[in-house]
Amino acid sequence: MLCQFRILWIALFLAGYGLALGDPAPAEIAPAPGSEGDTLTKEDKRMAYLVYKLLDKNGKIKGANLKRGEKLFYQNCRGCHGLDGKHINFTPMETRPTYLGNRARDDMPTFWYQMNFGDETREGMEPFYDELELDEMVDIAGYAQTLP
Ligand code: HEC
Repeated sequence: MLCQFRILWIALFLAGYGLALGDPAPAEIAPAPGSEGDTLTKEDKRMAYLVYKLLDKNGKIKGANLKRGEKLFYQNCRGCHGLDGKHINFTPMETRPTYLGNRARDDMPTFWYQMNFGDETREGMEPFYDELELDEMVDIAGYAQTLP
């Protein structure tokens, strides 16, 4: 009698142990991109796309069509930033000015974020997230890196 109980306990123990070692709880599995459980914001996604798909190891944009980028820049950005991107200096208090070309070359994540989402704390730069297609922004970003 006692012996039978002992076997039952061992069986229960082993079953519990097996469960604990089994598949991880669903919460530990990363949700598939675009699925219901995917909680990345559009900002996160755009920035991740830049880092994983667009930047080479020197911070240069890969795969941009510069000819089309030039045209799109002319249509969408030149009005404020100027044909050479030098109408607006982003660091007016410093001795060395920072123009669009400098920012695009030296700090593409900032450039990319501002072009996509603007900057609520500063006036004038509107988000282009809903205005331009992703591939158009890639071309503009690549072209901006060639500005003086
Ligand atoms: C209506 C005018 C206007 C247009 C059009 C415009 N910008 Fe801007 N942009 C601004 C202003 C104003 C600022 C903020 C300047 C400041 O506060 O230093 C700015 C800031 C930026 C910055 C932030 C730079 C930094 O590092 O601080 C980037 C990048 C930028 N613009 C890219 C673009 C691109 C790319 C386009 C075209 C797709 C564009 N802008 C179109 C007015 C404009």
